[in-house]
Amino acid sequence: MRKNYRQKHTSLTDRSIFRLKKSEGQFQRYHDGPALIHKLGHYGYVCKEFQTQLEFYTGNFNFVHSDILYLPQFPDRDVMTFMHLDLGEEYTDHHTLFLQCALPTARETYVHHTSFEVEDFDTQLMGHRYLAQKGWTSVWGVGRHILGSQIFDYWYDSSRFKIEHYADGDVVNQDNPTRRKAVGPLSVWGPELPKDFGDNKAT
Ligand SMILES: [Fe+2]
Repeated sequence: MRKNYRQKHTSLTDRSIFRLKKSEGQFQRYHDGPALIHKLGHYGYVCKEFQTQLEFYTGNFNFVHSDILYLPQFPDRDVMTFMHLDLGEEYTDHHTLFLQCALPTARETYVHHTSFEVEDFDTQLMGHRYLAQKGWTSVWGVGRHILGSQIFDYWYDSSRFKIEHYADGDVVNQDNPTRRKAVGPLSVWGPELPKDFGDNKAT
């Protein structure tokens, strides 16, 4: 049974679920509570001066593009970029910073969200349940991003600023070339994207 399942889903055999069975003879037991964050993963701006901001970060620091997105109807018009830190051969997160071009109607540049990494999917879902039980408001999640591959979960903080916690994101190094593609869906799976996801509601 297991063998047939693996043959049908060969992509899964490369994933840690089958390779890293670390707890032989031991049992996995978890305790309810908030998700333990171990680092600030990334944050990003929605920019009125997109090109200028881009030049500032890539011209003065070791930020390089992982993925650049353009509008499908205007292939020469970039509107979003996910940037990682160039650490040479050392692997680093797919994006530490992202920049998004603001709509012409936007009044100001604003931070879209900050994102914190947690240990794993179990930790994340227990954190999700903890926040829900406390009465905080979910923004979007849980789901799996396409660019960066993070399992995401977005919530409003007390000022209605969006924070994300995530697990299992991609890492890249100097051997990963920049990719360029049209804007498309943001998730592999998960709830439908809220229509106001791009808005700034922080007070
Ligand atoms: Fe994010």
